[in-house]
Amino acid sequence: MDRDLGTRDAGLSAESGDAPDDGIVTLSIAELDADPHGVFRRYRPLTPFIAHESGSYIVLRSGDVERFARDPRLRQSETEYPEIHGITGGLLFDLFDYSMLMSNGAVHRRRRSPFSRTFAARLMMEMRPRIRRTAEELVAEWYEEEDVDLVQRYAALIPARTISDLLGLPKDDIPEFTSLVYQVTRVVSFLFQPEDLPELEDAARRLFDYVEDTLNARRRKPKEDFLSAFVASADAAGELSPFEIITQIVTLIIGGTDTTRVAAAEQVALLLQDRAQWDEVCREPALIPGAVVEALRYEPSVASLARIPLEDIEVDGRVLPAGQFLILSTMSAMRDEQLYARPDVFDIHRTDHPRLPLVFGGGPHRCLGEALARVELEEGLAALSSRIPQLELAGDPPRVQGHSGIRRIGEMHVAWRR
Ligand code: HEM
Repeated sequence: MDRDLGTRDAGLSAESGDAPDDGIVTLSIAELDADPHGVFRRYRPLTPFIAHESGSYIVLRSGDVERFARDPRLRQSETEYPEIHGITGGLLFDLFDYSMLMSNGAVHRRRRSPFSRTFAARLMMEMRPRIRRTAEELVAEWYEEEDVDLVQRYAALIPARTISDLLGLPKDDIPEFTSLVYQVTRVVSFLFQPEDLPELEDAARRLFDYVEDTLNARRRKPKEDFLSAFVASADAAGELSPFEIITQIVTLIIGGTDTTRVAAAEQVALLLQDRAQWDEVCREPALIPGAVVEALRYEPSVASLARIPLEDIEVDGRVLPAGQFLILSTMSAMRDEQLYARPDVFDIHRTDHPRLPLVFGGGPHRCLGEALARVELEEGLAALSSRIPQLELAGDPPRVQGHSGIRRIGEMHVAWRR
């Protein structure tokens, strides 16, 4: 879940549609960011991949993206990305080095396995009513105001409070915890300047310390909760070091925050721009799960998976060279005519979603938090549409920006008549 990454190292021209000697079109970040769907739509029929000005290749077609997400000839990037961004040590580096997300093979399996025993569907079912209550409380907090930024006051707080609840954090700790999480998230998304690094390292230190203290508290005095079960299971298996255990929980926290914040805001924005579909959702809550999965397809909060081929891989007569940074564009794949009928239409009644939607990736790293994300997005939409069906956008709709990794969203002002 990186952001705008990659490095096939310089050298390649980034002129519009420029085709260097290898015949591969290279596009600049500005061109891609200006209209990513338009670029992908234009090149998908012509070529299996295009080059990115950073040097990465962007794989465009649904079949290739699905296949490569599971292909053992491609690997996660381990610590290459932080190194490229000037992070070579400290906890921010460790967050990549010790995390399941960036690791491969047996190391990855070892780091992920305690979750398969404890982060189960039953837990998500138990959390659903609590998440709904959280969402309702959030709406109640600002309902008497006239105009709010839904991103700050709603979308950002649903994942933060859900994760705080999941970890059983005391209520008073939540604001500080949320601020640390969003600071460290900037690093994973590579949204920082080099001069910010000391401050972000400090935030990472405080977040890791907080998670360590919480885990130790559960070791001393277990509760009937996820974290107690997780730490007991991980300790009993004895396959992870104490620091690895902390890092997997920090990965879970970071992986489940910005991704869900952007999606929670964007699904409301899409529906409010298509009033008939918003009204349908308000009248018929059974349509909410379909609306959630369609919003994730149409304007995803995570646009791609980053991978590196271990060997040369041929695709339709072209070669993805070993060692090349790849952006597997799930964003492009989810608008591919080969996968969806009328892919550029936002339709909450769509019935052609695959059983495992690509927005959550594929293969061994497929999103661990998919079920939780869906519950948060569904209950977030349900609380809002049932309490304020007359909700409207106040001002321009937000634009989700970015063409790879976790995407960005600005403010989203909404208003309503009481
Ligand atoms: C709309 C919300 C979300 C989206 C679109 C999303 C998307 C993804 C994707 C695409 C991956 C795979 C990355 C890769 O293969 O390189 C991933 C992995 C992961 N996600 Fe999510 N995610 C979301 C929410 C969550 C939530 C709520 C949590 C947990 C609370 C979570 C935890 C994780 C973790 C721990 C991984 C790493 C799994 C591994 O490496 O084995 N995600 N997510």
